[in-house]
Parts: sequence; structure tokens; C-alpha cells
Amino acid sequence: MEFKELVKNRRSVRQYQNMLVREATIHELLEIIGLSVSAINLQPWKIKVISDQETKDKLFSATFGMNQVRTCSHLLVLCADTDYPAIIDRLSRAQLAAGVPDDMRQRARDMATDLSASMSPEQRLQWSQQQVYIALGNAINGAYSLGLGACPMTAFKPAEFAQILGLPSNLVPTVLVSVGYSAEPGPQKLRHPVSDILV
Ligand SMILES: Cc1cc2nc3c(=O)[nH]c(=O)nc-3n(C[C@H](O)[C@H](O)[C@H](O)COP(=O)(O)O)c2cc1C
Repeated sequence: MEFKELVKNRRSVRQYQNMLVREATIHELLEIIGLSVSAINLQPWKIKVISDQETKDKLFSATFGMNQVRTCSHLLVLCADTDYPAIIDRLSRAQLAAGVPDDMRQRARDMATDLSASMSPEQRLQWSQQQVYIALGNAINGAYSLGLGACPMTAFKPAEFAQILGLPSNLVPTVLVSVGYSAEPGPQKLRHPVSDILV
């Protein structure tokens, strides 16, 4: 499908068929998400994938009535990673393995180290969350490209999610994506025209 058509036809799907999505399809979706762009290519995200009903039910209680959390096939919890020393090391190792020249590798390391060190912890979290939202765009369009329905969600309590999922303190649940086979067409597409977007 042409990209514009895909974006035009994708809708947030909140009702799913009672059918599990194959793990291979979820893996493909994760690959699409992992291809997302990020500042200095730091990829400061981690994703928790939940398909067991008991955990989905527990997580539902930490949302603001988001029923799709417990009725979807798989729930993706997109987390912002704030552990910049580890993020920078990981990128540097990946660059080394990919044969990136030492001077380029060092430049990326220095820039990422200086930039992250110049920020407060709150700013670092915000920086990571900005990248997570880029990944979110690919998650919802990617799900649709694979024949899946998906719904992004922020109506949840991040601290409770972190506790239920036993996440380390550097990972902050930022946005959820419920995924499954659609049982509804999704709401009508309503967007402002380009003339309204321009300032
Ligand atoms: C960052 C973000 C957070 C959202 N949070 C929720 C949510 O908590 N619950 C929900 O039902 N939909 C949520 N949505 C879905 C939006 O309501 C939906 O994308 C919007 O109304 C446009 O509809 P469409 O996705 O069908 O085009 C969210 C969307 C985004 C991008």
C-alpha cells in the first residue's frame, strides 16, 4: 500500500477479535519500531510486550478505563530509557561491530555524552520520551501495514505500570500500544485541512 493511503486509512482500533496475533508478526512489528529514527541514533527506548491475560488484567486496573488493554492480543509498553551512559555505550559497541570508523564513533560518543550531561534528569527523560513518540508513529502505522489494528494510549499510570511490570528505574512507561485483529472499522478519520495547519 502506498504510504499516504496507509496513513489515511489507519485508525485507532479499540475492539479486537478474540484471536492471538502470531509471535512472528509481533516480531516483525518490533523490527519496524526498531527502525525508527532518533537523535544521534541513540534509540533510547525499550519495549515490554505483554500477551498473558493475568498481566493485562492487572495493567488494566492501572489505566483510566482503557478496556483495549485487557482485550487486545498483545500490549506494547513503550518505555523511555534514561540510562545515558549505558545507551551511549551500547551505540558505540554497535558502531564498532558495524565497522564505523573510530573518529566518527568518538564524535558521536562525545556529542551524546556532552548533550546528556548538560541536561537535568527531567530533561533527559523528556528527551528520551520525544524519541519514543517517533517510534510510536512507526508502531501504529507499522501495525496497520501488517494487517493489525492498534491503539496508542497515554491514559494510564506510568508508576503503577512500572511497579506491576517490575521495570528498573531507568525505564519509564511512556505510551501504550494495544495490538490485535480489528473487530471494528475504527472511528471516522477527522483531520484539519492543510490550510488550517499552516501559520
Ligand atoms: C499520544 C497519544 C495518546 C493517546 N491516548 C489515547 C488513550 O489513552 N486512549 C484512547 O482510547 N486513545 C488514545 N489515543 C488515540 C487518539 O484518540 C486517536 O489517535 C485520535 O483520536 C485520532 O484518531 P485515529 O487514530 O483513529 O486517526 C492517543 C493517541 C496518541 C497519539
